[in-house]
Amino acid sequence: MTDLPRLTVLGTGYLGVTHAVCMASLGFEVLGVDTDPRKVALLTSGEAPMAEPGLTDLLSEGLTSGRLGFTSSYERAAEFGDIHFVCVGTPQRRDGHGADLSQLEACVAELGPLLARPCVVAGKSTVPVGTAARLAARLAALAPAGEAAALCWNPEFLREGHAVADTLRPDRIVVGVGAGPAGERAEAVLRVVFSAMTAAGVPLFVTDLPTAELAKVAANAFLATKISFINAVAEVCELSGADVGVLAGILAADPRIGGAGLRPGLGFGGGCLPKDVRAFVDRAAELGAADAPALLGTVDAINLGRRTSMVNLACDVLGGSVAGKAVCVLGAAFKAGSDDVRDSPALDVAHILHGLGGQVTVYDPAAMRNAAATHPGLAYAPSALSAATGADVVLVLTDWPEFAALDPALLGEVTAARRIIDGRYVLDPAAWRAAGWLYRANGIPAPAPSDQLA
Ligand code: UGA
Repeated sequence: MTDLPRLTVLGTGYLGVTHAVCMASLGFEVLGVDTDPRKVALLTSGEAPMAEPGLTDLLSEGLTSGRLGFTSSYERAAEFGDIHFVCVGTPQRRDGHGADLSQLEACVAELGPLLARPCVVAGKSTVPVGTAARLAARLAALAPAGEAAALCWNPEFLREGHAVADTLRPDRIVVGVGAGPAGERAEAVLRVVFSAMTAAGVPLFVTDLPTAELAKVAANAFLATKISFINAVAEVCELSGADVGVLAGILAADPRIGGAGLRPGLGFGGGCLPKDVRAFVDRAAELGAADAPALLGTVDAINLGRRTSMVNLACDVLGGSVAGKAVCVLGAAFKAGSDDVRDSPALDVAHILHGLGGQVTVYDPAAMRNAAATHPGLAYAPSALSAATGADVVLVLTDWPEFAALDPALLGEVTAARRIIDGRYVLDPAAWRAAGWLYRANGIPAPAPSDQLA
């Protein structure tokens, strides 16, 4: 037995599984809750739903220790938990750019009436500002415990590929609380949950509810803006003969700017940045703000424009059309170190080229299963060499180190032509050109037009 608070984690997606597993590893008793019994069965058998360094080990450690369990029963969760972390998905709405909060609403509707004793409900899902205050009122009305079921907001900043490390040692912790004793109690309980981290020097910011909600959305919007900024500059580089790769390195040397998030290329994708930018635009406009929607609408448009530019570049190096040409696409994941293909720029480009009549073959070191599930119409090959065999052009669209390490001479032996497009600036242009390749990248000076039809 332990006098630590007992935690539930509602929703076992990317965020929820990681949070549950990491909290159990810190010594808490944790019950993960999901309405999908298949997910519960898989997790109970020790199988992690996504490839994430360290996750499977911590999952089996938690299960073996008895501190970690999974259930579909909200009744069990309500009875078990002193703190309920809400980690359900808030995807983009099907009919617009705003966030779809139906999972969140359903979770509160189901949990609320079961909360008979004092507890804390801590939202971690990314939400439009104003959601937490609305849910707090709803919860107080639904819960038999009334305001003793205190709602707070505790956004999560983990990156895919670093989920466990980011959860156990975050840059910062944000706890947004309501006014009065319920807010004070929520803060006190969350300080206990995060005590190992704050003792190690991680700053903990206590804010009101809207500031906490916006802290997450604003962080993602800023990261997205940085990426679209360098990609907008890449276009100017291309038109002026400058080299955006070199330029980004020079900008990064200014500590006020920094190099993180300043890698040019095919732009951002994934389950977070694109939908969070759009939801921010939607909510800011709803509130009557003008500047944030204008700025971030442009950020989104620049980002999507990178995909069109890549398609145009591929057609360009093939003499104007991709129809009937063999196209090798290296990369399907939205970024290296992940098997996630949600809103993947690489797969989007592959899909468009396929639609234009290209014979597209895709290879990715980790995301083949997910890519084949979402894009069954594309062809897949088990290695980079095999995907490139007979290709008229090779496109590097995800920044996997495996692609950076490709041998230009070896690859050139299997392709039909030595044409490569570096969508993520992972290759050494000089090495590829020295091996007889036409090397192209958006934002890097093109060779003389006559070389482009080589
Ligand atoms: C992002 C944020 O970085 C996390 O802080 C946040 O918690 C998370 O979303 C979330 O909201 O849950 P993640 O989606 O894992 O994390 O991805 P990033 O590492 O930020 O990369 C996003 C996309 O931007 C990728 O497609 C990546 O290839 C691209 N990117 C990133 C660039 O094109 N250039 C860069 O310099 C950096």
